Amino acid sequence: MPKTILVVYHTMSGNTAAAAAAVAEGIRSVPGVEAVVKLAADADENDLLACDAVCLGTPDYHNYMAGMLKDFLDRTYYPTEGKVTGKPYGAFVTHGGDGHAVESVETVCGYFKFRRVAPTASIFGRPDTSAERELRHLGETLAKAVA
Ligand SMILES: Cc1cc2nc3c(=O)[nH]c(=O)nc-3n(C[C@H](O)[C@H](O)[C@H](O)COP(=O)(O)O)c2cc1C
Repeated sequence: MPKTILVVYHTMSGNTAAAAAAVAEGIRSVPGVEAVVKLAADADENDLLACDAVCLGTPDYHNYMAGMLKDFLDRTYYPTEGKVTGKPYGAFVTHGGDGHAVESVETVCGYFKFRRVAPTASIFGRPDTSAERELRHLGETLAKAVA
């Protein structure tokens, strides 16, 4: 049975979608691990319960995570409470210069009692070659944590 990692993200202008694609590539580079990539609006508690690890991606909006990712986390909190304790997680934020949203994601992941297995990637704008490498590494690290 392959392990699965849920990559759940929001995007408006494509930067975070490109970041999610690079993370998924890193996950799929590890044998026996699959990436399930979903927009936050399309994901629910069953996705969170079914995965072996989760990777959350968001643009920085007004120094906070995107409302759509927060909505996913709000909708899934009670249905998964106590059932995702210690689940490995990673996160990535794209931003226009600050990246303070990192803190908001990490704080809420603390309420879920997820276990962070890699530093949160903070990416300026559309990922360039170096950022793609960092994001692939994030995916690979998560995948190795569950393989
Ligand atoms: C409503 C809005 C608010 C934003 N606020 C911030 C901000 O506070 N700090 C920052 O660094 N970038 C900010 N940005 C820039 C985005 O975080 C950045 O362009 C991001 O990469 C967009 O991701 P996307 O292409 O996946 O939608 C904001 C953009 C929008 C649309």
